[in-house]
Amino acid sequence: MKRIFKIILFACLFYTQTAYNQTISMLSSGTKTSIRGLSVVDEKIIWASASSGMIAKSVDGGRHFNWMQVPNFEKRDFRDIEAFDSNTAIIIAIAEPAYILKTIDGGRHWKTVFTDSTKGMFLDAMSFSNNKNGVVIGDPINNKTFIAKTNDGGNTWIKQNNAPILAEGEAFFASSGSNIFQTKKNTYFVSGGKKSNFYFNGKVLEMPIIQGFESTGANAIAIYKNKAIVVAGDFAKDSITDNNCVLVDLKTMQFTKPNTTPSGYRSSVVFINKTNAIACGLNGVDISNDKGLNWKTISKEGFHVVAKSKKGNTIFLAGSKGRIAKLIFN
Ligand SMILES: *[C@@H]1O[C@H](CO)[C@@H](O)[C@H](O)[C@H]1NC(C)=O
Ligand SMILES: *[C@@H]1O[C@H](CO)[C@@H](O)[C@H](O)[C@H]1NC(C)=O
Ligand SMILES: *[C@@H]1O[C@H](CO)[C@@H](O)[C@H](O)[C@H]1NC(C)=O
Repeated sequence: MKRIFKIILFACLFYTQTAYNQTISMLSSGTKTSIRGLSVVDEKIIWASASSGMIAKSVDGGRHFNWMQVPNFEKRDFRDIEAFDSNTAIIIAIAEPAYILKTIDGGRHWKTVFTDSTKGMFLDAMSFSNNKNGVVIGDPINNKTFIAKTNDGGNTWIKQNNAPILAEGEAFFASSGSNIFQTKKNTYFVSGGKKSNFYFNGKVLEMPIIQGFESTGANAIAIYKNKAIVVAGDFAKDSITDNNCVLVDLKTMQFTKPNTTPSGYRSSVVFINKTNAIACGLNGVDISNDKGLNWKTISKEGFHVVAKSKKGNTIFLAGSKGRIAKLIFN
């Protein structure tokens, strides 16, 4: 009896092992820079943005990366990037003065398309719903969220005056460029710090997400049709799993907690398709194959950001020390 039980247990273990066998294949590492922005055009064209004014680009699926340092921005931190093809990309520099730069020649030249030297400016993340329409979010100035929008592919940005007022100690994380999500109709974003709220169309909802300290709160949102996954945690205590993820039904605005959480603080999340999603953070990478209800650790290697190719569904991850990796399903 015991033996049969063991065999069944072994068979189950073996089944899960073979059913979900993902490998993280390192494509680039060793560059002295911390990557937080990642934008993948298709399975060949990958752009990443990082600290020390560094940008990486591959046009061969990550076999070779061309690292470039944006002149005069050697001390700036580019926490997010949005790429449209091998020539065109937009980057944001955090802290003040705030800058948005755009290249149309593959990164040889960068043009300043937006600058704001207001005290306290801190751009956190960008999101585009197509090649024209995008949004950038920044920490509050006089308690008001900084939001600017573009409808010409990032050539001009218009500050939005009706942006929400935040609570004291509430702000946005610039951990992966993914706390804001622009769809055709709506802009969704999540805050962190002393409060962690869900914002959409001028409305605000408090989330069942860890909050109360500077290091706690929501870091990223992924959307597939009318389902969203928000990931969170405490970056100062990255193994804590309390309230580090919530699923949102965007039709009813109901929040559901997962049955099995990701295994720590998570700074980025992405849907692969309707059912499968990947989350990553300082202490590892998890997969869900049931729309975010249950998560399973697939690697204990830490990454800041995970992104899916806009065309196709190839998944890449990036993090500290210039690491860029590809997730392979075998
Ligand atoms: C799963 O990964 C292991 C280790 O890389 C490998 O030996 C095994 O063949 C893989 N299984 C499948 C079904 O691909
Ligand atoms: C910002 O919020 C704080 C605390 O809620 C309040 O004391 C302060 O007056 C507000 N400042 C502005 C400019 O609204
Ligand atoms: C979603 O993606 C995973 C991983 O590539 C794949 O195994 C699964 O079949 C896909 N599911 C759907 C519904 O496309």
